[in-house]
Formats: sequence, C-alpha cells, structure tokens
Amino acid sequence: MAALADRIASFFSGNDSTTDEGLRDLFISELKSVYYSEKRAVDALGDQAEASTTDEVGNAFLAHQEQSRIQVERLEEIFKIIGIKTETRTADAIDGLISDAKRVVADTESGSLTRDAALIIAAQKIEHYEIAAYGSLLTLAKMLDFNQSTELLARTLEEEKETDKKLTILAESFVNTRSKEEEDMHPGSHHASRHVAHGADSNVTLGGPLGV
Ligand SMILES: [Fe+2]
Repeated sequence: MAALADRIASFFSGNDSTTDEGLRDLFISELKSVYYSEKRAVDALGDQAEASTTDEVGNAFLAHQEQSRIQVERLEEIFKIIGIKTETRTADAIDGLISDAKRVVADTESGSLTRDAALIIAAQKIEHYEIAAYGSLLTLAKMLDFNQSTELLARTLEEEKETDKKLTILAESFVNTRSKEEEDMHPGSHHASRHVAHGADSNVTLGGPLGV
C-alpha cells in the first residue's frame, strides 16, 4: 500500500492522469448531487416557512430560501464554467432529511412552539449536510485547480455556515427567553444562571441545535 503523501505528491506533479480523471468525475457527480439537494431545499424551505409558528422562525426560513435560490444559480454558473450539462443527480441523504422535516410537521401541533423547535432542528440537520457537501466540493475544486468554481463554492459555503449560526442563535433564544421568564417569576433562583452565552463559542453548534 502506497503512502498518502507520496500519492498526492505524484498527483500534483502531473504524473497521475487516472486520479485526475477520477477526481474530475467525482467533482461532477458531487456537483450534480448538491444541485439536486439545493433545489429540493428551496422547495422545502417554503413549506417550512408556511408550517412555522412564529414570525421569527418563518422569516428565517424565507430569507434562507431566497439565499438558496442564488446558490442554485451559482451552481448553474459552475456547470457552465466547467463546460458540462446542467443536471441533477438524486441524493438519498437530502431526500431523507427533507422527509424527516415533513414528519416533524405532521408530528407537532400547528401553532405550537414545539413545532418551531422541531423545524429548527430539522433545518439545522439539512444545513450541516450542505456544509459537508459544499466543503467537500470546495476541496475537490482546489485540488483540480478550478479557480472560478473554488471562489463560487467558498462564497456559498460561507453563507451556509452563517445560516447555521443564525439557526443556533434562534434555537438559543428559546432557552434564553425561558431563563428570563423563570428569573422574572423567581428572582435570584438558580435558573437565572442558565442564560446561554453568545460569546466566543456562538459560532459552534453547542452539541445540537437546541444547545442540549
Ligand atoms: Fe444552501
């Protein structure tokens, strides 16, 4: 078995056309999958906005839907740049995540706060999938020297990470509001110490969308 570093060095010195071809094919099939996923996400976000209870959660989904439409266009630009036909490739992962998101709507009561909590959890799972998909595509684009695609993918990846952060903050607001109400009802009680900090760690998902 060859050492990874040796194989990579040989690839970058241009002596490994098999890998070059293999990585190109991989990039294209991943691109088609993410294109499929992003398009499915645009539709799902509309449903999620409609199903949500509060304006804040509904508006967050609508804003992300708008952004996802731009991300779809960006992917179409990449198809054009690398000179291949724009087409989707089904991805079981996103299909599963979206049917989970639909199930939480069926499982929770319309107009309940639980509905919003469940929708945020489902949305954040989709977001993490997208971050992984775009992150991998970006790495492949860099390896293949697809400079224009690298720039477009990096922009979308940044947006996905931002969305993930916003969802975390939204989820944490559930906890913060609860803590505040408990503090108002029982001043000085130990629950008051449960405010979730939006400090240096707020860019990290705190063990889960609801920070539990
Ligand atoms: Fe997206």
